[in-house]
Amino acid sequence: MSNEQHEIEYTDSFVGAIELVWGDGFLSPGGEDEITLFLEGLNISGKEVLDVGSGTGGCDVVLVRTHGAGHVLGVDVEQPVIDRSIARAEELGLSDRISYQKVEPGPFPFEDESFDVVFSKDAMIHIEDKASLFAEVIRVLRPGGFFVASDWMRRDELAPGPEIQNWLDIVGLTFGMHSPPHYVEALELAGFQGVETRDRNEFLVNALRADFELLSGEGRDELIRRTGPEAQHFIDVWSAALKAAESGELRPCHLRGFKPSA
Ligand SMILES: C[S@@+](CC[C@H](N)C(=O)[O-])C[C@H]1O[C@@H](n2cnc3c(N)ncnc32)[C@H](O)[C@@H]1O
Repeated sequence: MSNEQHEIEYTDSFVGAIELVWGDGFLSPGGEDEITLFLEGLNISGKEVLDVGSGTGGCDVVLVRTHGAGHVLGVDVEQPVIDRSIARAEELGLSDRISYQKVEPGPFPFEDESFDVVFSKDAMIHIEDKASLFAEVIRVLRPGGFFVASDWMRRDELAPGPEIQNWLDIVGLTFGMHSPPHYVEALELAGFQGVETRDRNEFLVNALRADFELLSGEGRDELIRRTGPEAQHFIDVWSAALKAAESGELRPCHLRGFKPSA
């Protein structure tokens, strides 16, 4: 994992645009339903959960309220989103069950075997070195614990095609995108067992299509109110993401893996 200093990418206007389409507290699509789907068959009730790349905190509220997590610690590299998520937890009276910590990119500042579950939603795309990342994830998990996540992946490890390259060029985020087999290999190399992925391309195409219609149609005035002169840029970003997903190269997936019991 990189130890470079991180610059703010999820600016206030970007967060404003994203939350307009994906809901308050969510910087990724699908909200509660998508989280519930990728947790299917797993029990996090009463467990201590680490959320990697917690953003503005909506996922953590779902983990605690809907799925009964005992405690969630959200970590993120950007202070402004951490501040928003702390305010959200306080407002909802959940500060005793959800806390946040800003971290630097790189190894986690936690002792071995500190968590029962490591969760992440659409955040690991920002971390290039998956082998080091998953070595860290398994290190901080207790024996018998599990990793459960979704992430935006690429169909393969070949040079990006024109649609995905266009999106990468305009979105203004640092990505380290890889294919589902690359993730599986890195998880297994780290020592995870029972590794599974589930493709969510069709879900993303439908979500982005609806978002694009909203942003360029009836939501346009609210987008302008939230983002001012950047509004057209965000419409272009969604249009490019939609084309990348429709091309089949942008392939979000659910992911899970289990740390063997001691
Ligand atoms: C697309 S957002 C998803 C946020 C949240 N998981 C959600 O679904 O709403 C990705 C988040 O990952 C964070 N991030 C980027 N690099 C990271 C890193 N190395 N470690 C932890 N978080 C990181 C970003 O700051 C951003 O808040």
